Amino acid sequence: MEDSVRVGKASDLADGDMMLAEVGDEQVLVCRVGGSYFAVGDECPHAGGSLSDGYLEGEEVECPLHGSLFSVKTGENTGPPATEGVPTYQVTVEGEDLMVGPASP
Ligand code: FES
Repeated sequence: MEDSVRVGKASDLADGDMMLAEVGDEQVLVCRVGGSYFAVGDECPHAGGSLSDGYLEGEEVECPLHGSLFSVKTGENTGPPATEGVPTYQVTVEGEDLMVGPASP
């Protein structure tokens, strides 16, 4: 994946909202927390749960399958049973457009 892609309008997401987006061939969770936008890989590294179907609590998303926690800011795994984090993606707002990608190094 090279460039950023438009995933919707910035105004589509209210604070505390999440959405699933396709960036290249990757599934990405995009959310808004405290007026800032964040994006992380949607697939839980524990057993493949879709994090965008989970619960966003502050800066943490909880996997709907077994409750692992991840920071949407850093992708870090902050609660078991997962032991690995998820990738993060750059998010920019260009005019009204919400642009996501590429994956952060
Ligand atoms: S699949 Fe996410 S915690 Fe098990």
